[in-house]
Amino acid sequence: MSGFAFWRYRYMRRTVISGTLPGAREHPRRRHASPCCNNVPVHHPDPAAMRKQYRAQGLVATELAADPLRQFAHWFADAAAGGIDEPNAMVLSTADAQGRPSSRTVLLKSFDDRGFVFFTNYGSRKGTELTENPHASLLFPWHPIARQVIVDGGVTRVGEDETERYFRSRPHGSQLGAWASAQSTVIGSREELERRYAELVARYPEGGEPVPVPRFWGGYRVQPETIEFWQGRENRLHDRLRYRSAPEAPTGWTVERLSP
Ligand SMILES: Cc1cc2nc3c(=O)[nH]c(=O)nc-3n(C[C@H](O)[C@H](O)[C@H](O)COP(=O)(O)O)c2cc1C
Repeated sequence: MSGFAFWRYRYMRRTVISGTLPGAREHPRRRHASPCCNNVPVHHPDPAAMRKQYRAQGLVATELAADPLRQFAHWFADAAAGGIDEPNAMVLSTADAQGRPSSRTVLLKSFDDRGFVFFTNYGSRKGTELTENPHASLLFPWHPIARQVIVDGGVTRVGEDETERYFRSRPHGSQLGAWASAQSTVIGSREELERRYAELVARYPEGGEPVPVPRFWGGYRVQPETIEFWQGRENRLHDRLRYRSAPEAPTGWTVERLSP
């Protein structure tokens, strides 16, 4: 590229990226450029300048429910009432046999005294990691109400009956989608995926023969060993109360306060 062409390219890239695209809006905060992306500065709000004062309402151990699933039910209801979009979206972290972690969002589909259930493809990356290392962490990021909940524990597959019940409750298109995608594998093109889906629609039209439950698809239950409830407070003096499984305790749990 000639010198002129390079500067023209740089100018155009900056113009596009910094917000003159149709529909793009200037962020009200201070602009910041990271020296990334082949040395072409990309203008974006400076994350270091993003600072929010959290609400004053606190979390005290004496007001917590005796068991964390009950406490979670209260906070889950608050998150739903607080208008949080998909309050059941949680970040699931797993690790492979060497301890290398990976994270992704999944949807919580049920919870009770036995734990937290989500559904996925057993052959996916998370599925493979859970086979090698059946431990996981779940994080509910309820930022708009300055709360997060973190669950750590062992993971088991739910029974086939539970998977079947949930699979049958899904929309027909989602049932076919589970078959169409070899989740986490590399695929040549979007068209390939859509072709597979169209073949399934032809084979299992809605209202016809029931879609079988894929044997490679089902639920996992995370059985909590610890559950931390985090409440944002002023001046970064946040409340963190963590339940820890303690079979010898009358409630089966102890609660400890962590430094923020
Ligand atoms: C809001 C949201 C909800 C999701 N819910 C699920 C889910 O319940 N199950 C699932 O397998 N993938 C879900 N995904 C997709 C996963 O984040 C991920 O891309 C996929 O499971 C493959 O992950 P893996 O390759 O790490 O196994 C969701 C993604 C988002 C953004």
